[in-house]
Amino acid sequence: MTFILHLFGVLCCLCSCAQSQNISGRPDAVNIGAQFARNSTIGRVAAVAVVAAVNDINNDPNILLGTKLDLKMHDSSCNRFLGIVQALQFMEKDTVAIIGPLSSTTAHVLSHLANELHVPLMSFSATDPTLSSLEYPFFVRTTVSDQFQMASVADLVEYYGWKQVTTIFVDNDYGRNGISSLGDELSKRRSKILYKAAFRPGATTEDLADVLIRVAMRESRVIILHANPDSGLVVFQQALKLGMMSSGYVWIATDWLTSYLDPLVHLDIGLLSTMQGVIALRHHTENTRRKSLLSSKWSELVEDSGHSRFLLSTYGLYAYDTVWILAHALDAFFNSGGNISFSPDPKLQEISGGGLNLEALSVFDGGWQLLERIHQVNFMGAAGPVKFDSGGNLIRPAYDIVNIVGSGLRTIGYWSNYSGLSVISPETLYMKPANRTRENQKLYDVIWPGEDIKRPRGWVFPNNGNELRIGVPDRVSYRQFVSADSETGMVRGLCIDVFVAAINLLAYPVPYKLIPFGNRKENPSYMELINKILTDFSAHRNYCFFSAYTGEDTRSTLGRFVIIIWLFVVLIIQSSYTASLTSILTVQQLTSPITGIDSLITSDDPIGFQVGSFAEGYLVHELGISHSRLKALGTPDEYKSALELGPSKKGGVAAIVDERPYVELFLYQNPNSKFAIVGSEFTKSGWGFAFPRDSPLSVDLSTAILQLSENGDLQRIHDKWLTSSMSPTNELPSDPDRLDVYSFSALFLICGLACIFALAIHACSLFYQYSRHAAVDDGAALPSSGASDGSRSLSRRSRLHSFLSFADRREIDSRRVSKEKEAALGASVGSMGGVSFTSSGSGSTTNSC
Ligand SMILES: *[C@@H]1O[C@H](CO)[C@@H](O)[C@H](O)[C@H]1NC(C)=O
Ligand SMILES: *[C@@H]1O[C@H](CO)[C@@H](O)[C@H](O)[C@H]1NC(C)=O
Ligand SMILES: *[C@@H]1O[C@H](CO)[C@@H](O)[C@H](O)[C@H]1NC(C)=O
Ligand SMILES: *[C@@H]1O[C@H](CO)[C@@H](O)[C@H](O)[C@H]1NC(C)=O
Ligand SMILES: *[C@@H]1O[C@H](CO)[C@@H](O)[C@H](O)[C@H]1NC(C)=O
Repeated sequence: MTFILHLFGVLCCLCSCAQSQNISGRPDAVNIGAQFARNSTIGRVAAVAVVAAVNDINNDPNILLGTKLDLKMHDSSCNRFLGIVQALQFMEKDTVAIIGPLSSTTAHVLSHLANELHVPLMSFSATDPTLSSLEYPFFVRTTVSDQFQMASVADLVEYYGWKQVTTIFVDNDYGRNGISSLGDELSKRRSKILYKAAFRPGATTEDLADVLIRVAMRESRVIILHANPDSGLVVFQQALKLGMMSSGYVWIATDWLTSYLDPLVHLDIGLLSTMQGVIALRHHTENTRRKSLLSSKWSELVEDSGHSRFLLSTYGLYAYDTVWILAHALDAFFNSGGNISFSPDPKLQEISGGGLNLEALSVFDGGWQLLERIHQVNFMGAAGPVKFDSGGNLIRPAYDIVNIVGSGLRTIGYWSNYSGLSVISPETLYMKPANRTRENQKLYDVIWPGEDIKRPRGWVFPNNGNELRIGVPDRVSYRQFVSADSETGMVRGLCIDVFVAAINLLAYPVPYKLIPFGNRKENPSYMELINKILTDFSAHRNYCFFSAYTGEDTRSTLGRFVIIIWLFVVLIIQSSYTASLTSILTVQQLTSPITGIDSLITSDDPIGFQVGSFAEGYLVHELGISHSRLKALGTPDEYKSALELGPSKKGGVAAIVDERPYVELFLYQNPNSKFAIVGSEFTKSGWGFAFPRDSPLSVDLSTAILQLSENGDLQRIHDKWLTSSMSPTNELPSDPDRLDVYSFSALFLICGLACIFALAIHACSLFYQYSRHAAVDDGAALPSSGASDGSRSLSRRSRLHSFLSFADRREIDSRRVSKEKEAALGASVGSMGGVSFTSSGSGSTTNSC
């Protein structure tokens, strides 16, 4: 197959220029020249297009007002050295402009010649972004710089949510500088090139297979291929052989692929089968009048050139437009009185001699003026409007995005510098305000390699033996969460179980290694561990993260020593309700003044935190609490004793700020204690596994943990680790703030017993007195002493009645007695009557009974 892309174009302008000028200063003919590799894909199309353009211009009396373009073409036969030597030979003859070169590499070399001799170098196919640099003022790019193509690739990568890509490219100016520009564009979108796989120009099939094997070992599955058709097609063949055209892979080919496929009259199914699912780019060209005119006569033009049939491609349109740009610029140049004249280069005169006819190389006097005219052109070409911006780029860069499916190329959307990705053609979008918002980016569905319709994830775990290195905090306290066995070094705990369960849910195997971190004397600092992730990540290019609760979820526990003192002076049934109400108020009064984090901040009391926990940094940096108030506590026992000591004693704390899981476990282990959680949670977030930023694993693992939470496994793991270490009751102590009726059961019992006891004594004494009183009555009423049996029930009722009236009377009497006592006490001050009264009083009492 003849599809070499190396293009060397050198214009040779045969020096027939300034010979016969007429009054207006215009020569009859201006010779331009070009040098193509005619058997390259682009060179073949371009050669036909350039010839067609020269003929069209020479047949149009309006454009150069009779001056003819005399085109000389050379075939450099794909040999770069030959191309350069030929270029020098052509430069010996006076030249106004060069159409070409086709390849970026040759363009770099020839640009120095052009700079020296002031001959514009007009390339429609050298896309290397660095050619736009100020170093090459005489290089004119009449196509779109790869800078825009790479921006469109980066937009694609961002659109599909991939973070890392692999690039395969030819290691020359075109490949290297294109990929470097891609790296810049990706980093603007917070993505990056993970691996750059370069191959030398002209690499063999074996070389390319080796490159692919190295690529397959990397984790990224998004491959961007920036090559020439000859090597690019072999890459696809080899990738198919190596199984790299299968499900899970993403291939993005830059426009080399479409520039090769578009001119083919028949798309070979065998060829397309090696690249199914590939996404490729193509320069977007508008449907102009010139384009349709050129297309309609294209097959005729190809026949005239003596080639077998091929179709017009976008580079053909750019080549056609390039000649028109030169014609418009020359016209403007002549209109402003420009002359075609050449002078010898003084530098070359100095080094003349030897076999080379260097002094023949002459400088184009009007070079700068012509260059200026070229940058000022503004007309409708075959590919669209032709106009350069201040940076020398053609305006409105745009690309078609195609997907290779089955036997053809399907356009899935467009990219334009104006609006990014869309399914609407750029011409329509130019009429609307630019909108590059994320919601506005859209493409049609893609059939990915392996006939997959689901967007590939874009990465896998590298198959190169590197395992995920996971730092694990080796805890000293609360070892249920995560710790390493001191003898076996086995890492166990709730966090590890959650991690393993989540990893097992992933659709792909993840080899990992747990590395304990800590000195086994106190809990390790989580901050240090997090920093290790960052350093290890950059040092080993490997992932490292740790599993634990993150410090974001901080809560406060407030120890409260609830003392309930009951003083009963009077115990009566009716007062028990009042008593319980009072006791509730009493408890409220005795509660710690700390009701939440805010009151903790404003107080001056010492605050406890767990050694190594984020809480320390959070309290100091986020909440602005002075470090001197903080007290590090290592174990649950220290928690307990510090809380029990309270804020006023040395070593005691008013409260402990810690992460909720630890606090809950502490409360489980201290049931019925005087400690409780107060206030509301003041940061929100739960479990945490820390990952390096942009780690592709973080999204998948988060999804897996959500799944665990939904199917109840998370709760089961929680119960497995935490319920076994809980108290037998397995329940949180009931809130000490609340008192219910059962809290008073003992009180009621005592109260009830006391009442019954008092009542019993009272009843006994009353009965005793009554029985004595009844005996006196019975003696006085002798006639009725032998009462008949028939009157017995009557007498029992009358006895009860008389007992009650006795009790009643006695009550009245005792009240009267106490009143008389008071009166007697007052009287006794002045007389002795009180004594007699007392005796009579007692006598009367006796009498009344
Ligand atoms: C292009 O043509 C030259 C000779 O004209 C030949 O040496 C070279 O191999 C050809 N290239 C291809 C790809 O056919
Ligand atoms: C001078 O230029 C005019 C166009 O402006 C052209 O028609 C004419 O042939 C030219 N004369 C000569 C002598 O070349
Ligand atoms: C062009 O050449 C004529 C003489 O041939 C000269 O008078 C004129 O100044 C030149 N114009 C420029 C722009 O060099
Ligand atoms: C591309 O777009 C950027 C901003 O979106 C703009 O600054 C730049 O001029 C555009 N380039 C071209 C060649 O249109
Ligand atoms: C851009 O497009 C989005 C979605 O189509 C729309 O919501 C937004 O308002 C547009 N913004 C502008 C500036 O037109």
